[in-house]
Amino acid sequence: MPRPYVLLSAAVSLDGCLDTPPGQPRLLLSNEEDFDRVDSVRASCDAVLLGAGTLRADDPRVQVASAGRRAARAGAGLPPHPVKATVTRSGDLDPGRRFWRHGGTKVVYAVGRAARDRAVAALGGLATVHQVAQDDVWPQVLDHLHGLGVRRLMVEGGGSVHTQFLRQGLADELQLVIAPVIVGGADAPRMFGAGGYPGGPQHRLALAESRRIGDVTLLRYATHRRPGTGARATAADAVWLGEACALAAACPPSTTAFSVGAIVVAADGRELARGHSREGGDARVHAEQAALAKVRGGSGLAGATVYSSLEPCGHRASYPHPCAELIAGAGVRRVVTGWREPDTFVPGANGTERLRERGVTVVELPEYAEAGRAPNAHLSPGE
Ligand SMILES: NC(=O)c1ccc[n+]([C@@H]2O[C@H](COP(=O)([O-])OP(=O)(O)OC[C@H]3O[C@@H](n4cnc5c(N)ncnc54)[C@H](OP(=O)(O)O)[C@@H]3O)[C@@H](O)[C@H]2O)c1
Ligand SMILES: [Zn+2]
Repeated sequence: MPRPYVLLSAAVSLDGCLDTPPGQPRLLLSNEEDFDRVDSVRASCDAVLLGAGTLRADDPRVQVASAGRRAARAGAGLPPHPVKATVTRSGDLDPGRRFWRHGGTKVVYAVGRAARDRAVAALGGLATVHQVAQDDVWPQVLDHLHGLGVRRLMVEGGGSVHTQFLRQGLADELQLVIAPVIVGGADAPRMFGAGGYPGGPQHRLALAESRRIGDVTLLRYATHRRPGTGARATAADAVWLGEACALAAACPPSTTAFSVGAIVVAADGRELARGHSREGGDARVHAEQAALAKVRGGSGLAGATVYSSLEPCGHRASYPHPCAELIAGAGVRRVVTGWREPDTFVPGANGTERLRERGVTVVELPEYAEAGRAPNAHLSPGE
């Protein structure tokens, strides 16, 4: 059964703590600018999930604070706030908490009959309480949320919940904000609990992005390399597009053509082929063309994604078929790119439109435009 895309979000101290030790004054691990970023991530999700421990410790509202973002969601036919979910084994939930009084629809996942009965008695009509079985709690929660229409889920802690998602291989993305403070307390709650994680300490997450936000730093990781599906970009998409842009930088320079990198990735995250402009010394060869020519068989292309540092060409002087046609003709249904083709060589190149006309989903990540453009700076001054 398909499950929502799961994004874990937290702010930690330099020593990996989520909070001060119990009983000590609370700590600010974020800043105003980052609160706003978190608000935008929330607004991009269909549901937000928190452990019952965080509801008790922090009393968070969990809502989309920005009126503009709520209006944008409404314009897209979505409720103003994402669904809010929590999980409990005890059923010990306080109806006075702000979580129940603000934001969107609330769902409680209670393990077993006794917890469900307690939660229902405590909350009355404030939330829908759904009973789950003791074993494999998270797959049940994710399947149920998917059934509610949730395709993108933000998990906002605490540590016990983050740890379980990572350990069980159920997270797709990790957004970690590092605050410039050291908590130091041995009994302070940690982001990741002790114990084994998939792949062990040898497994390296793929860094999709690092960004300075005032005095904190956002680190965004993909936990696997499987491409996204549909129009929403994932952290793995950002990792692959970053690699395609690095490939573009390795092209032999030219004054008559762009330097572009392209990578074809199967649905399971296997790289099928990569190529770059003028590969093999042929001045006319385009990156997507070079990459597609190397894919053996072609049967896996229907589920594959093509990453290209530049929008695939829609018109082309040097070759009968533009890359948009080659890609659609090969059966590829999804393309991720960062930089729209400027009018340097072909006015109105429009590869993105041509792909979309052929039913191919084109996902644009404008934050990669600069990385795609950099190896071409000599061609398009002022772009
Ligand atoms: N810095 C940050 O970004 C951030 C974010 C969030 C939280 N925090 C901090 O994290 C701390 C809270 O973390 P935490 O680990 O104690 O709490 P938590 O992960 O929020 O919640 C733990 C609780 O969730 C329920 N739960 C967890 N796994 C479950 C499962 N498999 N099945 C059923 N219920 C399950 C249980 O609730 P019951 O007890 O009701 O059974 C459990 O006690 C606080 O200090 C908070 O400030 C920090
Ligand atoms: Zn091309």
